[in-house]
Amino acid sequence: MADWKKIRNDFPALKRTIDGHSPVYLDSACMALKPQQVIDAMNEYYERYPACGGRSIHTFGQEVSEAYDRSREVFAAFINAKSPHECIWTRNASESINIVARSVKLPKGSKIVTTSLEHHSGSLPFVERARRDGLRVEVVKARPDGTFDIESWKDAIDNDTRMISVVHSSNVTGTVAPLDTIVELAHDRGALVLSDDAQYAPHHPMDVQSSDVDFSAISIHKMCGPSGMGLLYGKAELLDEMDMFLTGGDTVADVRFENGQIIPEYLPPPEKFEAGLQNYAGAIGAGAAAEYLQSIGMQEIEKHEKALLSKALQELLNMENVHIIGTQDTEIRTGLVTFTVDTVESAHDVATFLDTEFGVMVRSGWHCAGPFHYQLGIDPKHGSVRASFYVYNNANDLDRFLTGLRQLIRVSS
Ligand SMILES: Cc1ncc(COP(=O)(O)O)c(C=O)c1O
Repeated sequence: MADWKKIRNDFPALKRTIDGHSPVYLDSACMALKPQQVIDAMNEYYERYPACGGRSIHTFGQEVSEAYDRSREVFAAFINAKSPHECIWTRNASESINIVARSVKLPKGSKIVTTSLEHHSGSLPFVERARRDGLRVEVVKARPDGTFDIESWKDAIDNDTRMISVVHSSNVTGTVAPLDTIVELAHDRGALVLSDDAQYAPHHPMDVQSSDVDFSAISIHKMCGPSGMGLLYGKAELLDEMDMFLTGGDTVADVRFENGQIIPEYLPPPEKFEAGLQNYAGAIGAGAAAEYLQSIGMQEIEKHEKALLSKALQELLNMENVHIIGTQDTEIRTGLVTFTVDTVESAHDVATFLDTEFGVMVRSGWHCAGPFHYQLGIDPKHGSVRASFYVYNNANDLDRFLTGLRQLIRVSS
């Protein structure tokens, strides 16, 4: 059984006092706080061997290469990839998705399927690919509660479909998509599936072999890792055949100069997709983050967040003038809740009140999910409010958030 009090203590940012309060941080779906263990791992790099890996064969260089490779192995184990070579470090989930959208082979006449629930980073890279290559994009409409009708997936995935980009766990509704069914339908038709795991990987056990997805995009800064770190998982054979994304230093086994021409011979993945000097501290911190979450246990994390989520849903449901976006079924939800408040026009006003009056930090806006806000008839300018929970949150955090919201509704009614 995890010791949640001790876990909370691992996060230095929560030891601050702001206006006499310890902060209540409910914006982990955007960026998770960092535990001391991750900060220490990165500091160790900066203090002891802040050099370049791969290219430099000296002592510091070797230490960097070892730590960098070890982190990749840790991360590969975290998502249960067959090999660390299927794991590419990126700057964020958006970059991971862009690599696939730009570089995956899609024949003429291909159809790409995505959903109305996607984060802009899940849909736009494919919308642009389609525009560039004259391909078709079909959008599966989510239900207003963030769930999907399987029939609409059956209708959308046809013999022309070659690529599917689907948000595994929504950053608006928190709903978990029926990935197994989507993968099965897609593979039956010879289509590939990219799972946007930006919100799923931080909160649930990951197993890319059992889910059989072809690609997975992960946002490491949402899972206690350093800011500006992401990961792309791809099946080895697909990464092998994909076009280059960025080229340059460290992507090549040889570059010849023959008959006045420069002729590159590229390395296999992951190096093929990691051009230039890498974010070594970031990758080392990413490995430390995966180890940290594993030391708690992903199933424990899931249970902890579900308990907070259930209580939040129950209380918000009973609040007049509050409208929850998303199903009440916590079995298919990740630990976040998004809502609107009738008595306050803009979600930013709700967030500002909670922050300044109660020291509660929530997210407000359209959460990079314009299409779903339009589908629900919510003016993206007014947006919605999102409270998201993670390993360091507790019942007191939830109480302070609910007390603040009740007071806001009282004074604004
Ligand atoms: C569902 C989802 N997909 C993709 C992204 C983009 O992630 P990143 O900021 O790592 O690029 C986010 C970020 O909030 C997200 O919530």
